[in-house]
Amino acid sequence: MSSLVPVVTIDGPGGSGKGTIARLLAAKLGWNLLDSGAIYRLAAMAAMERGIDPVDTPDLIECCEQLNVVFQQDEAGNEQIFLDDEDVSLLLRDEATGEAASKIAVIPAVRAALLARQRQFCQPPGLVADGRDMGTVVFPEASCKIFLTASLQERAKRRHKQLKAQGNGISIDALFRDMAKRDERDANREVSPLRPAADAFTVDCSTLSIDEVLSSVLEIVQQQVAL
Ligand code: DC
Repeated sequence: MSSLVPVVTIDGPGGSGKGTIARLLAAKLGWNLLDSGAIYRLAAMAAMERGIDPVDTPDLIECCEQLNVVFQQDEAGNEQIFLDDEDVSLLLRDEATGEAASKIAVIPAVRAALLARQRQFCQPPGLVADGRDMGTVVFPEASCKIFLTASLQERAKRRHKQLKAQGNGISIDALFRDMAKRDERDANREVSPLRPAADAFTVDCSTLSIDEVLSSVLEIVQQQVAL
């Protein structure tokens, strides 16, 4: 990681809108984007495809170290993610994949195996990094750290709308329960738990629109980073 490359970290729980805000912010600044949740999801998918149990074994760690993934955009600018040359862009966003990712993410050796890959995204002219431990562990020297949060009710409602649009019929109650369980696991694991960095700015977006969140975040970034 080069300390000359400015980094904005956006951490927060699932469904807080950090992925959307990180993408919009990166586009606005013309910077690179790291969706670190996608890296954990890809690692979990690769393990499932190889029939590797999501427990701390040399096989799982080797699978994480050797992930064969490509991030690119199609002609219309839509994100495409390939795992072992297969387009997994949709499957990657599945709740089951998120759950599997959250399970392997508690294993310290998995986190260590995925660290260098995440730091490789730090390239000029700058990086917006979204995840759970971007400001605390992966980019502790980041120029600007944001923690996006929202009530569990609101996050479940947003995620439900998103999944419904993709044809997923999960009930909002089931989703609420799953998200509460995942929050609990992400926030209470021993290594790199989900928490704001001491120097992070927290934005509660429970009652804010995407445009309102983006302008609050942009205001903070403009104050913290020499653009
Ligand atoms: O942001 P997401 O829902 O795509 O992330 C999926 C899981 O990956 C999340 O439940 C926990 C894990 N994760 C993590 O531990 N650290 C990160 N920086 C990003 C994701």
